[in-house]
Amino acid sequence: MAKNVQSSSPDFSDALLTWYDQQARHLPWRTFWPVLSDPYDVFLSELMLQQTVVATVIPYFQKFKEIWPTINDLAAAEEADILREWAGLGYYARARNMRKAAQAVVNDHGGVFPEEEAALLSLPGIGPYTAAAIMSFAFDKPAIVLDGNIERVLSRYFADDTPLPALKAHLRNRYPAIQPKERFSDFPQAMMDLGARICISGVPRCEQCPLSAHCASAFDAAAETRPVKAPKKAKPKREGSVFVARYEGKVAMTQRPDKGLLGGMMVFPTYGWWHKEDQSNGLTDAPFAASWVKEDVTLTHVFTHFELRLTLYQARLTKEEAALAAKHFEFKAVEDVGLASIMAKVWRASDKQH
Ligand code: ADE
Repeated sequence: MAKNVQSSSPDFSDALLTWYDQQARHLPWRTFWPVLSDPYDVFLSELMLQQTVVATVIPYFQKFKEIWPTINDLAAAEEADILREWAGLGYYARARNMRKAAQAVVNDHGGVFPEEEAALLSLPGIGPYTAAAIMSFAFDKPAIVLDGNIERVLSRYFADDTPLPALKAHLRNRYPAIQPKERFSDFPQAMMDLGARICISGVPRCEQCPLSAHCASAFDAAAETRPVKAPKKAKPKREGSVFVARYEGKVAMTQRPDKGLLGGMMVFPTYGWWHKEDQSNGLTDAPFAASWVKEDVTLTHVFTHFELRLTLYQARLTKEEAALAAKHFEFKAVEDVGLASIMAKVWRASDKQH
């Protein structure tokens, strides 16, 4: 089909913002221009939204705001409490950095979020995307906000087949031409909503799209291929074992070191998969002697850099075994600790087998 000519502002932003006025999602951290979001709300929600979908984030955001209503409260929080409430969102370094960033805002900026990019980027865990989101949503600055939804909308609008991540630089260059003259806080969020509802991955809903008159991919099957991604490498696979040992209503657990995978989280004893050189290939090395029963179940989880398959072993400990295990492990009531998703899967499976 013949390509339309893409137009720059005001066509793009006018049509988009008119649509947003009618169709915007109401989200707990969101306000509508000229009202601006509290930077703390943007900070919390955007850190949670990295790699996690909106529907999952909403209850976490609300819980965090209930427990730590201000940046000062979060800065004063214990790391273990933040990790417990973060459990299930994954990428636990984000939660630890969140606390460090809150402390930096309190200690170095008098508890007031900075508005400038350089100062925001100096905060732990805040990269170009989050800095731009805070500048835009909380301070109404014309920052260039590019997330997955916006990249999809714009790569299609401009029919730009440059593979990610190089695409980002192209979109940065194009962005000023489509920005409105005001409503800098609404503009990226409107593109996010368009990407989430209309310009969805797969087949977009061009018939409902306010930008279809000028979009270079409108009603074109090529839209489905955009944004073009550099070919993905297959993830390496790791195998290991996990051990659920019960004693008097509690379970043997241990805390992961601060740095690395599931840093700082409580986990069940495991064997053979934390490091890539540590390939057990299903061999087991039980953490302590007990009457282990191998369950006929395999737990799987996809981490950023590898796919994991875990074999589950269970035991009910005698008093003597528990005393030996207690030298290296803590006995915890599972309800009292936040479980990372993989450990929650293990726990659910062990409950079922039990
Ligand atoms: N995804 C990331 N940030 C978002 C926001 N502010 N609104 C909707 N979706 C988002």
